[in-house]
Amino acid sequence: AKLLVDVSHAQSIPPTLFGIFFEEINHAGAGGLWAELVSNRGFEAGGQNTPSNIDPWSTIGGESSLIVSTDRSSCFDRNKVALRMDVLCDSQGSNICPAGGVGVYNPGFWGMDIIEGKSYKVVFYIRSLDSVDLSVSLTSSNGLQMLATAKVVASASDVSNWTRVETLLEAKATNHNARLQLTTSRKGVIWFDQVSAMPLDTNKGHGFRNEHFQMLADIKPRFVRFPGGCFVEGEWLRNAFRWKETIGPWEERPGHFGDVWMYWTDDGLGYFEFLQLAEDLGSLPIWVFNNGISHNDQVDTSVVSPFVQEALDGIEFARGDPSSKWGSVRAAMGHPEPFDLRYVAIGNEDCGKKNYRGNYLKFYDAITRVYPDIKIISNCDGSSRPLDHPAHFYDFHIYTSANDLFSMNHKFDHTSRNGPKAFVSEYAVTGKDAGTGSLLAALAEAGFLLGLEKNSDVVSMASYAPLFVHANDRRWNPDAIVFNSSHLYGTPSYWVQQFFRESSGATLLNATIQTDSPASIVASAIAWEDSKNEKSYLRIKVVNFGSNSVQLKVSVDGLEPNSIKGSGSTKTQLTSTNLMDENSFQEPNKVVPKQSPLDNAGENMDVVLTPHSFTSFDLLR
Ligand code: AHR
Repeated sequence: AKLLVDVSHAQSIPPTLFGIFFEEINHAGAGGLWAELVSNRGFEAGGQNTPSNIDPWSTIGGESSLIVSTDRSSCFDRNKVALRMDVLCDSQGSNICPAGGVGVYNPGFWGMDIIEGKSYKVVFYIRSLDSVDLSVSLTSSNGLQMLATAKVVASASDVSNWTRVETLLEAKATNHNARLQLTTSRKGVIWFDQVSAMPLDTNKGHGFRNEHFQMLADIKPRFVRFPGGCFVEGEWLRNAFRWKETIGPWEERPGHFGDVWMYWTDDGLGYFEFLQLAEDLGSLPIWVFNNGISHNDQVDTSVVSPFVQEALDGIEFARGDPSSKWGSVRAAMGHPEPFDLRYVAIGNEDCGKKNYRGNYLKFYDAITRVYPDIKIISNCDGSSRPLDHPAHFYDFHIYTSANDLFSMNHKFDHTSRNGPKAFVSEYAVTGKDAGTGSLLAALAEAGFLLGLEKNSDVVSMASYAPLFVHANDRRWNPDAIVFNSSHLYGTPSYWVQQFFRESSGATLLNATIQTDSPASIVASAIAWEDSKNEKSYLRIKVVNFGSNSVQLKVSVDGLEPNSIKGSGSTKTQLTSTNLMDENSFQEPNKVVPKQSPLDNAGENMDVVLTPHSFTSFDLLR
């Protein structure tokens, strides 16, 4: 087979081409990227009615020593449920408390990751008519190993009204399956609300777990689409993500039940934090908002204007002047500078629904009137026929088999060059080809992405979906990054994305494959600059989707002779022994890219493509 690269045919790749799509699915945020350790910190997850289900909180001590219930006495108006603890035992007298006291504990999201030497800020609110003597502790899952503890002692008059308590716990040992306990051996009644435990050490102190954040930073995403997906829509509108409920002091956020992915979120990771995440990653935020349509109910276009206003307010919150109504709320949260919000998506996967077109136009007109520079993304697919409504981009989602996605390398070859550009905001191989993140899936995705790169005159943005999965709550399979309380790894699909991290903003070169098996080899070529090290490279990427090894003759035209240097050129390959090989907690690096020197690099070189492989050749100029 031959690969001809023509350097004289050059075209700019959009600076935003490759990014990420963060959805609150699979506990990606709550219990994942967001570092809060306590699950259901306001006792609201069972709903606003009492008695409420306080899961996953549990009690320490039997019925003779303690009664735990909920009432609606909280000082926080938008989340009134509080925990009431009637302690019946005491340190003396006829009903002596068990050793260690009685109380409640929270196991977090399938165990808290507590690390020796690290500090954890615990904040909660209490009220009592009696004096209190509490222990706040991080312990092992059975409570027997004490990892860190602090005392909270207060007189009745100190805590007769709701009182904020803050304490810093430094862990004396490591335990990946820990819990937070609030215990006492003093008789009386104590109410608790809004109990939070956060590691002090989060990315830039912004609340993002370092390891999760780093995995994202490592693929240099140029945009962050958030917060969903179906999460934005809800099964029912009453459970959709509504940004105003997720901002302001965390204690005052009501939280909500995401009824598509079926779990409660305290919304510590709210609209502000998503914007902050994008900024911290050096990416552009792409906000997907609800357009008055869920999976099962819809707001009629004639009465959708409150939703339109909500979207306008959200844009003002993100980028309005600190003196504006919503810009001032953002400023009060510690970010007086506007966030760089340039793109919004009107809904998610709603195109075919009855009210979509009508609602869409209301949003489109209002937003373009107030914010003419904002770019708007429609849910309707414009890849095969023109849209019947104005849009700057159209959303394109594809979940399919490996063969199908690989063959979609050509999907955008014949798309009209005149209409709005494509935002491939969700793509992945799913079904049996995917396992729980197979090499096969990753190779097909690599082939598809090479096609997007070659068609980046009509495809402006692309992101894999979903991004994260907590191994204990796999609502969607497969996903790019798998984690539990303490460990995480990338699936081969994650690693494929690393091959494209220099593509956004690079120069696309003409690359033509000549082969007898055109159905199994695809390639692209780019020129990119490593500005940090002041080096220039040609990067040729090739997927060999077939089961035979291929001898490839590469010729680069249009360069001065001998302008490619052998020393400093490299080859990076993603492959494995079996097509269905995956990474796992036991073998996180089984299918990861491996780099080696490419000593024979030159304008003409012979290379071997291993069966079932994705290879990138970085030729130093
Ligand atoms: O990525 C998972 C889901 O797939 C998204 O929520 C939705 O947009 C799509 O159906």
